[in-house]
Amino acid sequence: MKINNRRYTGSKYKLMPWIKELILEHCPEHCSLFDVFGGTGVVTSELLEITTSNTINDFLFSNEIIYKAFFGKEQYDENKIKSHLKRYNEVDKSTLDGNYVSENYGDKYFRYEDAKLIGYIREELKREYENTEINEREFCILLASLLYSFDRCANTVGHYEAYIKGKEIRSEFVFELIEPIISNNTINIYREDSNELAKKVVSDIAFIDPPYNSRQYSRFYHVMETITKWEKPELAGTAMKPPEENMSDYCRNLAPKVFAELIESLNVKYIVVTYNTTYDSKSSSSRNKITLEQIQKILEKKGKTLIFETDYHRFNAGKTDSVDHKELVFITRVGE
Ligand SMILES: C[S@@+](CC[C@H](N)C(=O)[O-])C[C@H]1O[C@@H](n2cnc3c(N)ncnc32)[C@H](O)[C@@H]1O
Repeated sequence: MKINNRRYTGSKYKLMPWIKELILEHCPEHCSLFDVFGGTGVVTSELLEITTSNTINDFLFSNEIIYKAFFGKEQYDENKIKSHLKRYNEVDKSTLDGNYVSENYGDKYFRYEDAKLIGYIREELKREYENTEINEREFCILLASLLYSFDRCANTVGHYEAYIKGKEIRSEFVFELIEPIISNNTINIYREDSNELAKKVVSDIAFIDPPYNSRQYSRFYHVMETITKWEKPELAGTAMKPPEENMSDYCRNLAPKVFAELIESLNVKYIVVTYNTTYDSKSSSSRNKITLEQIQKILEKKGKTLIFETDYHRFNAGKTDSVDHKELVFITRVGE
């Protein structure tokens, strides 16, 4: 599985050819890139070729593991990884005992028997890593593979806000491997609050793709977070969510203020900001927390800002809930 083989709200994968073209045209080549809200990591991955060093950040634990798996530099033993693949796919699920995953998510997000296997694999990874049978990179590759594999069969519409009820769960869990990315670039990986990290990183380009509505990523992807952290908290509600953590100010009314603070503190030459107008009048949670005008005003304080716009339909074969769905890219030349 490749880095983009994942369902993720706001992933820029489909827009990357357009964004890459804009960056090539308006920013210098062979420079450093700071992907402040990394999400899936596809922005960094698609821009590796035209950059020389990269910094990628996201405050979610699962995203950090995924970056370490795809972009890490530590050596790993491919045969060992393949033998895990074989071993996990040969497990007879019916012989496994119930565990944290089956008790909480069985027959909800996953078939009960699949949930037992997912929990078993996660427990095995913890044991092997603690006993130093696998190194950190191997641990991250196998854990990211587990996350990507269960995401493929999860009984959801693409995120974990709720599971689909009243229907037999059709997709079966199959453990598959992710394909780590080979690159000569230096890649620094962080799991920090964007605004704190921005005060420390120096880069040529900052790529800014924050959440733009009230949907919290830590709640949307809580199953990924819970299985990654493996601290087994008590889960609550029908959606079986853990206690709140990593609630972003970008999803609150504070968004314009934190965005302005972030832009102000960046130590970069170019700022690239992506934005979309997905406003759906039926759902207040889809309403943008920062307006286009606010973004433009904040960026213009830093330097000359160009704005590019495209119709979402160009990339998504007409699939959208919103009539007026536009994708925008702002490029600011700092200090001009
Ligand atoms: C729109 S998504 C980024 C998508 C990404 N560009 C991609 O193509 O996959 C926004 C990301 O920001 C992260 N995030 C939200 N608030 C944050 C904060 N204060 N600090 C760090 N990351 C944050 C979320 O976890 C989410 O992954």
